[in-house]
Amino acid sequence: MNTIHSASVLRASEGVVFFIFGATGDLARRKLFPALYSMYREGKLAENFAVIGLARRSRSNEQFRHDLHASIQEFCRYKADGDDNWGTFSDHFHYMSLDINHVDGFVQLRGLADKLDEQFQIGGNRLFYLALAPELFGSVSYNLKSGGLLQAEGWKRLVIEKPFGYDLASAEKLNEQIREVFREEEVYRIDHYLGKEMVQNIEVVRFANAFFEPLWNNKYIANIQITLSETVGVEERGGYYDHSGALRDMGQNHMLQMVTMMAMEPPSRLHPEDIRDEKVKVLRSLRAYMTDEDVQANVVRGQYAAGMHKGKPLPAYRAEEAVPPDSNTETYFAARVYVDNFRWAGVPFYVRTGKRLPAKTTEVVVEFKNMPDNIYFSQKTSLEPNLLVFRVNPNEGIYLKMNAKRPGSQWGIIPIAMDFTQSAEAGINTPEAYERLLYDAARGDSTYFTRWDEVALAWKFVDRIEQAWKNGRGELYLYPAGSWGPTPATELLDRDGFRWWPVNGQREGEVVWVSSAVEGKEPH
Ligand code: BG6
Repeated sequence: MNTIHSASVLRASEGVVFFIFGATGDLARRKLFPALYSMYREGKLAENFAVIGLARRSRSNEQFRHDLHASIQEFCRYKADGDDNWGTFSDHFHYMSLDINHVDGFVQLRGLADKLDEQFQIGGNRLFYLALAPELFGSVSYNLKSGGLLQAEGWKRLVIEKPFGYDLASAEKLNEQIREVFREEEVYRIDHYLGKEMVQNIEVVRFANAFFEPLWNNKYIANIQITLSETVGVEERGGYYDHSGALRDMGQNHMLQMVTMMAMEPPSRLHPEDIRDEKVKVLRSLRAYMTDEDVQANVVRGQYAAGMHKGKPLPAYRAEEAVPPDSNTETYFAARVYVDNFRWAGVPFYVRTGKRLPAKTTEVVVEFKNMPDNIYFSQKTSLEPNLLVFRVNPNEGIYLKMNAKRPGSQWGIIPIAMDFTQSAEAGINTPEAYERLLYDAARGDSTYFTRWDEVALAWKFVDRIEQAWKNGRGELYLYPAGSWGPTPATELLDRDGFRWWPVNGQREGEVVWVSSAVEGKEPH
């Protein structure tokens, strides 16, 4: 096998049967099959594994393996063409057409699973991946049990996709249905942002560096800014999205998870439950917006109107397929959030996300407080604050902005940047989020999956905002597609004397200091 890393540094998962529900869908094609193949190529997948693809439409094993090949060619960082072991790998994949509403099919599925279990000596370990609409989670869980699929020896795990409910009430209902069949420890709720390399790196940078952790509090940090911007519109997902909106689609999950990663206390042990306990404490400390006026003052909602990106005209959200022409769904939101605990009292976390913004970026900016006014410097120049930036996407890296003397004999202070681009070092070998998460689920590490109490608290926070909007508080501002969102989002920071830092790449007027000194270089 053509392995990139030495297998000795990696632990292969135990033997397992993966049941992929929704195997003919987009997620399986773009993410799950490529993830399984990368794991295989890197020795992270045990030889004794099997994959059963499940969906309603009929398909032979050969067709299924053909689709698998095509998906890997198109979306995987390793290619199937030229792999001498392709046949051995693809022989582990089987397909079965299944009507998930009837238990009979599940009984038949049990027969297939038992057979593969014996053939590949798997020992009964089963991972059920539901790449399905959440309304189906309950009945699938129930039928897995009734069909006898949970009876084999070995562990059972249920991996489910977001959205986990529509609000707290529906999430509770969904959770109850699942919990009738699976224990909380067996449920792996995906938030793919937690599988991103640089999101995971936040805790390492915070807790492994002497020069950050002592400053990581309200004495030294002025504010934290989290931007999850997208250039795409709603594409073909208008039906789902119009029912959801940006706050539910990105805020309840990815955004709040990033806030927890930035704000959590160091866990007492690197144990999944200890880490998740710390994240829950952050969610519990989020300052709830008590009144509709609070929501109005702290949260801005927007929707894209027609606009332009890179010279190309773009349609308005209301003109997108499956979106009602009078829709009031937000495609953008920005908010000022407070974590009311000892460490973060008074530090605003500004968050924003939107579709049809000018850049696809995920970045977290930590803005440090200014140095005390130093006459010696301030007579000559105004000092820019220090920034620490986690670049999650599209480039992965860490960026640190500081002040230094202008090189040469002319006196002056200029901002310089230390810029570490991880993607340049690790290149295409950085595992994709789904790859990491599937590997973690297969070996029983739930650290980067969301626990029920996290989900519930996040919904509680979001529901309050949704309620105020429903009560008519929170004007919907239109912004041109291809712009950075509605103006009130800028005012949100203006009022506090801050501004959004530009995202994506180098900041204007800075000298980048990668590894060597900048002697003689002028800022551009
Ligand atoms: C998904 C949202 O969870 O995340 C999508 O449903 C969004 O609307 C996507 O486009 C963004 O993910 P990423 O990894 O491309 O930033």
